[in-house]
Amino acid sequence: MKIGIEATSFYSSHYYLDLKTLAIQRGVEPEKFYHSIGQEKMAVPPPDEDVVTLAANAAEQALQGVDRERIEAIFFATESGIDQSKAAGIYVHRLLDLQPHCRVVELKQACYSGTIGVQAAAALVHRNPESKALVITADVARYGLGSAGESTQGAGAVALVVSANPKILALDPEAGYYTQDVMDFWRPNYRDEALVDGKHSVRVYLRALGASWEQYSRRSGRTWPDFARFCFHLPFTRMGEQAIRHLAKNCGQTDLGDKELNALIGDGLIYNRLVGNLYSGSLYLSLISLLENTQENLENKRIALFSYGSGCVGEFFSGVVAPEYRQALPIERHRALIRDRQELDYTAYSRFYSYALPTDGSTNKIPENETGRFRLSGLSQHQRIYEKRS
Ligand code: HMG
Repeated sequence: MKIGIEATSFYSSHYYLDLKTLAIQRGVEPEKFYHSIGQEKMAVPPPDEDVVTLAANAAEQALQGVDRERIEAIFFATESGIDQSKAAGIYVHRLLDLQPHCRVVELKQACYSGTIGVQAAAALVHRNPESKALVITADVARYGLGSAGESTQGAGAVALVVSANPKILALDPEAGYYTQDVMDFWRPNYRDEALVDGKHSVRVYLRALGASWEQYSRRSGRTWPDFARFCFHLPFTRMGEQAIRHLAKNCGQTDLGDKELNALIGDGLIYNRLVGNLYSGSLYLSLISLLENTQENLENKRIALFSYGSGCVGEFFSGVVAPEYRQALPIERHRALIRDRQELDYTAYSRFYSYALPTDGSTNKIPENETGRFRLSGLSQHQRIYEKRS
């Protein structure tokens, strides 16, 4: 039985900051962000977007054409949670009017958690092939104004329907994974912004990649030539370029130059370069970017996937692209979403960034900005109020 991704969609904020604007403000050469970090624009969420609205807007689209009565689980992956107890997926379950016989849970392990969501969803579907599971990755990446990580922020959600009818990607059963207790990136409960040891985090990422690949290749017997393309977790796109070089070296592919290696990942960088880090969703945004932008027909070709979450957990896995996969992807809508965004100047960016919701339970109405169909309209008695627009 094949199990994998039947449908997918991503959603991101209507607003972005061009990194040239940030570079000028911070007194840095724009080339540093554009070229050396590999990011051009970053999504900036207005105050009326949070992980619930990002997720609901992505999931509503992913569920178009899917038999919603068969959704029996929601795995909501995030490290930008809005509540210490209640799973954000329950709000999404209501906003999307899903049937009540559904398991809902929130998963956290930095940027990795979407992948355990996908693997757990596949296991549930294996047990009951009639059922489908909705995996949602949603995050707002925040590092602090003026910090080294600021240019690698972003926001958005990717929703994936996992079922026994994988119209996009059939997952291979083999995976290689790696955990190590490291402090490369973390966010204590009392902070809104992540703390990061940036250069250390890059080294740990590459170590986790090597160790995950080693177990994956030993278990699956697959080697470099088995893969048509590679997708990586992309905190910034230059990281993907470092990752493919590292992997090529581990696989003894020393003859391949930058051009050949970049061709194996390039189409998977396009959307991430314009949206920024989605944390839990970055790998899956890269997969969508690859499938929607590659000219070559990838039907029946194997794609390698590497998921990384600081702290850290890495996982190397793979899947085979389904026949006629392009018809299952909302390509035009994704392109329009990115194309039709509104650029912010620095003042508007820092205003959005600094907007603080009350923490004393007082009623607060959030000014209306451009969002998708779902928005956070305010707070009352410590409860978030979500609005569904017609
Ligand atoms: P930085 O302080 O900007 O580093 O931090 P830098 O000064 O070394 O500059 C970076 C590159 O820009 C260098 O090139 C410089 O030479 C170049 P490289 O040596 O890499 O080729 N540069 C210039 N280029 C052109 N013109 C100039 C110029 N000046 C310098 N004038 C860092 C960079 C990525 C560390 C920072 O942005 C950061 O801390 N980001 C956040 C952490 C991160 O993304 N880590 C990645 C691995 S961890 C991960 O992926 C997990 C994560 O997603 C979180 C989760 O799991 O939840 C982050």
